[in-house]
Amino acid sequence: MDEFLIEGQQPLNGTIEINGSKNSGLPILIATLLTDEECVINKVPDLRDIQTTFQLLKYLGKSVEYKNHTVTIKSDKPLKYAAPYELVKQMRASILVAGPLLARLKKTQVPLPGGCAIGLRPIDIHLKGFEEFGAKTTNVRGDILISVDKLVPTRFRMEFPSVGATENLIMCATLMPGKTILSGVAKEPEIDDLMDFLNKMGANVKKHEPDEIIIEGKPSLGGATHTLIPDRIETGTFLIAGAITGGNITLANCRVDHLKSVIDVLEYSGAKISADGDTISVSGPKDRPRPVNVNTLPHPGFPTDLQAPWMSYMCIAKGKSKIEEDIFENRFIHTAELARMGANILVDGKTALIEGVESLNGASVMASDIRGGAALVVATLCAKGQSVVQRSYHIDRGYEKIEDKLSKLGARITRQKSK
Ligand code: UD1
Repeated sequence: MDEFLIEGQQPLNGTIEINGSKNSGLPILIATLLTDEECVINKVPDLRDIQTTFQLLKYLGKSVEYKNHTVTIKSDKPLKYAAPYELVKQMRASILVAGPLLARLKKTQVPLPGGCAIGLRPIDIHLKGFEEFGAKTTNVRGDILISVDKLVPTRFRMEFPSVGATENLIMCATLMPGKTILSGVAKEPEIDDLMDFLNKMGANVKKHEPDEIIIEGKPSLGGATHTLIPDRIETGTFLIAGAITGGNITLANCRVDHLKSVIDVLEYSGAKISADGDTISVSGPKDRPRPVNVNTLPHPGFPTDLQAPWMSYMCIAKGKSKIEEDIFENRFIHTAELARMGANILVDGKTALIEGVESLNGASVMASDIRGGAALVVATLCAKGQSVVQRSYHIDRGYEKIEDKLSKLGARITRQKSK
């Protein structure tokens, strides 16, 4: 197992390029199950979750060729309808194969993803949607079997704007003849990217009301070539890393319009942000940051995936701040590790109260999920002395070679084998 060794208090400086979005990449790769024709996707980040998706696609009958961040996906064998537990348990997003496989084969079987470090994360909204489309869902020894004679387009309102359920149901509806109207949908930029790709494949998916998507089903879809949007969560993590070290960094390949809520709070904290086309620059505050309260919300609100890195930043703010986590039930696991570094945080249910300290101290800490792990790296960058972040494989699920990018910005960080 690998870990990161970090020598803190080194202001970051310089320029790096942001990768294509992991959270766009996963559904878009899975959407290739909707066609037998060749698809080419560019700017696909080299991440553990992406590799897991490649394995899943190969298992289900696709051939996958990945080189220089471009993947070519072709049909190799007839599609299988069931996803294996071994792969689904590594990555919850595997549930997204249900929509395309149900649409193509009228039957799919996907193991229930189970709990994960950040909470229970049920899939009831996905299943309710498939049932509204006429499918039957049965729990077979921990797997969900979804089957249907004929899919029926309908109007379905989601009780919560789940990102995954929106993606799953859109993909299924692209091959359901007739008009499907999904309302109460998620508005994350990754949904727009998926819709863009599906329309390139010949689908007819469009936004109607702000929270409504209309899909006119087609008998079949074709191949397409697509470039993933920049990863707004990687961008946000590096912006916070630049600010917490009092550095001055520029990020290329960004979408400023996807990060408004993050830029607003960073500016309020005293960081200076400037944007020019697809680049964003941040200069950290001269002094300790000003405390800023945030609560996580569906897009365009502050993203839950940046809550943990933001908490690291607020740990050294000049005063008290509050974070409310309104998306996931248990997303404060990183607080105990930050406390090992001298942070002063009180968690009460969905709320964390942070009393900023003068500085954090280096320590050995352990990552337990992707973004919580990234938050620990961000915190160690500004901490006094040496730190070790154990279980770096969590961070590798969402950040491609984070140590190389940070080193390029002047951080003293190396990857080593755990003792
Ligand atoms: C996606 C992102 C993840 C991000 C999250 C919220 C990917 C691969 N992952 O995850 O990084 O943190 O959006 O922005 O894109 N819920 C239910 N029932 C359901 C579905 C969801 O209760 O059927 C709940 C979940 O438990 C959670 C909340 O809704 O509390 C948000 O989940 P959802 O939007 O579905 O997130 P994911 O698609 O899993």
